[in-house]
Amino acid sequence: RRFTASLEALDTAVPPARRVADRFAEVGRSAPGRFVSTPDTDPSVAANRVWADGILSRIDGSTLSIDTVAAARVETEAELERIVAGTVEAGERWAELGAAERGAILHRAGDVLEERRAELIEVMAAEAGKTIDQADPEVSEAVDFAHYYAERGLELETVQGATFVPARLTLVTPPWNFPVAIPAGSALAALAAGSPVLFKPAGLSARSGALVAEALWAAGVPTDVLRLVDVDEETLGRQLVSHPAVDRVILTGAFETAELFRSFRPSLPLLAETSGKNAIIVTPSADLDLAVKDVAASAFGHAGQKCSAASLVVLVGSVASSPRFRSQLMDAISSLPVGLPHVASTRMGPLIEAPGPKLREGLTTLGEGESWLIRPRALSDDDARLWSPGLRDGVARGSAFHRTEYFGPILGIMTADTLDEAIDIVNEVDYGLTSGLHSLDRGEISIWLDRIEAGNLYVNRGITGAIVERQPFGGWKKSSVGAGAKAGGPNYLVNLGSWLPSAAPS
Ligand code: ALA
Repeated sequence: RRFTASLEALDTAVPPARRVADRFAEVGRSAPGRFVSTPDTDPSVAANRVWADGILSRIDGSTLSIDTVAAARVETEAELERIVAGTVEAGERWAELGAAERGAILHRAGDVLEERRAELIEVMAAEAGKTIDQADPEVSEAVDFAHYYAERGLELETVQGATFVPARLTLVTPPWNFPVAIPAGSALAALAAGSPVLFKPAGLSARSGALVAEALWAAGVPTDVLRLVDVDEETLGRQLVSHPAVDRVILTGAFETAELFRSFRPSLPLLAETSGKNAIIVTPSADLDLAVKDVAASAFGHAGQKCSAASLVVLVGSVASSPRFRSQLMDAISSLPVGLPHVASTRMGPLIEAPGPKLREGLTTLGEGESWLIRPRALSDDDARLWSPGLRDGVARGSAFHRTEYFGPILGIMTADTLDEAIDIVNEVDYGLTSGLHSLDRGEISIWLDRIEAGNLYVNRGITGAIVERQPFGGWKKSSVGAGAKAGGPNYLVNLGSWLPSAAPS
């Protein structure tokens, strides 16, 4: 198989999960402990610095799927035109196959993704710093998408009086932060609807995307029906988005990227899930132990680099005025194991890249009235990707931290006298992707469900990790642009084509 040689190379560069015990022995400690809130002179901080410094030289050795990425590179407009024309033509045969045959291939794609779970985890860790506890369920989500959309595709052919005509060509432009589940889900949806796909992986996680494409090809999706295209975003990317043969674009990314795509082509049929600034409200009736656990996991899973991540926690009434919740939350955050993504116990790995100006500000600069409960620290002098998690208190209504998506390991605390005030605070944000409530009071839950403005609502649960079919995923307000149907939900595929009246029987 294609992967064997490169996996061997990776194996020497990166200790895989099964050698976690050796890795701990080499590093000389088995748990990072509470280093974040301790001063620099604390020996545990120094130990973590040494530990963190070693991370990136080891994970940069990955060569998985590098040939596939190289083969996907498109340099000229003429080449791109040929690819578009070839994919449209191959798509006509794909549409003619019919939903049952396509569905069989897509179910097989789910099986191949499952068989390749280890490689997918390995490359996500190597390329995106994704920890095993995050990468593993991400593979499960991709597998779920395959089987779920394979079934939903069958339903498109059963409507009386109307025929479903698939999009001529769907462009899939996923983000780097879910480099397997989101491209897999988007491509599988279009394929299940009968549309061929041009898949432009995110530049920062192209090898993970290539592994997804390889799995789908191995399952029987023709290589000219699912085309991996790696293009310069400024030039050919623009040409691709504007191309008249592309009649659907599935984008997951920043709101600004959706705006940019729209500026290239105002009539663009876009299905975009965009940014978020998500909050969890905790009321005095909540199970505080559970709330602490869910807030910490939602804020710092994948180092906070999820559109769904919790960036604010709004404490209501006595939860705000007593020290208990804050103190438990500080313990939970400061004992999060930060380190090598391949180590099974790590809960926060490196950032995808050195923080840009906005995230750097979020990690370093307090607004008026704010204070650090846990100050984020750069863990390595040599690599700016390595940060510890941070917690700020006293975030004011209307402040920059209240409204800005930072996309990193930083959480802010806000307070409210009542649940209604807390809901107002959350709804004042321009985005509305995920939202959480921790409360054991049915009346409070019902008020919150009525009033809160977000696409995905979670009660007494973390706010990341939507499950296919059970929690169809999509935003509201500036968290969604274009067709609003939710990924992993029953109405998603109908956006990837049009219903035309069937010819009347003669
Ligand atoms: N679907 C991803 C989640 O729910 C973004 O966390």
